[in-house]
Amino acid sequence: MENFTFYSPTYFVFGKGTENEAGQYVKKYGGHKVLIHYGGGSVKRSGLLDRVKASLDAAGIAHVELGGVQPNPKSTLVYEGIELARKENVDFLLPIGGGSVIDSAKAIAFGALYDGDFWDFYCGKQGTVTKALPVGAITTLAASGSESSTDSVVTYVAEDGKQYKRCADGDILRPVFAIMNPELLFTLPPYQTASGITDIISHCIERYFTKTPEVEITDRMLEAVILTMLKEGKRVMAEPDNYAARANIMWAATVAMNGITGVGRAADWGTHHMENELSTSYGCSHGAGLAILTPAWMTYAMNVDVMRFAQFATRVCGCQMNFAHPEVTAKEGIEFMRSFFKSIGMPSSISEIGGKDEDLAGLAENMFHGAPNHGNFVKLTPQIAEEIYRLAL
Ligand code: NZQ
Ligand code: ZN
Repeated sequence: MENFTFYSPTYFVFGKGTENEAGQYVKKYGGHKVLIHYGGGSVKRSGLLDRVKASLDAAGIAHVELGGVQPNPKSTLVYEGIELARKENVDFLLPIGGGSVIDSAKAIAFGALYDGDFWDFYCGKQGTVTKALPVGAITTLAASGSESSTDSVVTYVAEDGKQYKRCADGDILRPVFAIMNPELLFTLPPYQTASGITDIISHCIERYFTKTPEVEITDRMLEAVILTMLKEGKRVMAEPDNYAARANIMWAATVAMNGITGVGRAADWGTHHMENELSTSYGCSHGAGLAILTPAWMTYAMNVDVMRFAQFATRVCGCQMNFAHPEVTAKEGIEFMRSFFKSIGMPSSISEIGGKDEDLAGLAENMFHGAPNHGNFVKLTPQIAEEIYRLAL
């Protein structure tokens, strides 16, 4: 196991009705004037926004709001949010939504305190974010784990219309609290539920395939999260109002992404970086892009360490070990994951979401624009990325 530091200060408030405690937690963490941030309207339709505002009013917390965050959040709204936060002297960010809303709020939280362009932290001009307003997250989608992660993923819309989806990070970006009521997930469309399940599994797979030896504790934790997702994922697709399934999935999303399953080991993240180009170019969900690319990446990566793939296949996918031909077991594991994603309604190929062979070189090129490093278990080059895209076509 490698040396590591791990700091995860988020205070979790989990369970039914917890959104009604938002006001008291903002107060506890020192907020006086809150910027409520949300997406395209699901929080209005469900009445959640009104309940949160009532809770803030009851706690005597002033608030302004900015809605309209799009899935795979855009820089344009972040700039608007930074301006609003400064003008209104906001001292606390309260995103209500999925990963896109929380990530956009994180960007506003540090952008409001930074003299330069907030994008500097995504494009590599600046390193780790160290100064930000506090963020408290109210999660409505179990997927990204952004409610306690160090990351913020935003898409920059350039003047020439090109888009670059990149990540900024820092311990300071971990929300100070996360309010998580599994009942809020009941209104999710099946596609978003399935995208979330896929994203959670992918956060585990990105870490599972590592060259760091002797990391049994995190291997086993990752296997536990994926096994839980295979069981509860299937259950929730059939029974969307099943509280127990939603609760297990919601906590799994957090466990998969807050870093505890990744300490002391190198992670890959190549599939995530390649996925950024699919959601940006074809407008699919992050999870759908991952469902397409994960089996393709596994197929390419298998030969780096066949025994690790065979281990995954036996421990996670229930395959029988073929000791004479471990590559056969490894391939069975990959096929198992491919059919699982399909069984919950995820697409299986780039063509299914509108991509063509002639797009693939451009996807790889855009991914490397100003960002030279991708992957660890498999170090990606533009050529390798294109090859993996082609395996997923
Ligand atoms: O905008 P509204 O109307 O709220 O609708 C949203 C949106 O259309 C809808 N939705 C959310 N909660 C709902 C709901 N609809 C009905 N009922 C509810 N309870 O779902 C749609 C998708 O929302 P979005 O926030 O985009 O989904 P998700 O949570 O999957 O977030 C995806 C983003 O997170 C980033 C991804 O790259 C992507 O941009 N990630 C962030 C990470 C992090 N910060 O640590 C890690 C992840 O790997 C991921 O990359
Ligand atoms: Zn993800």
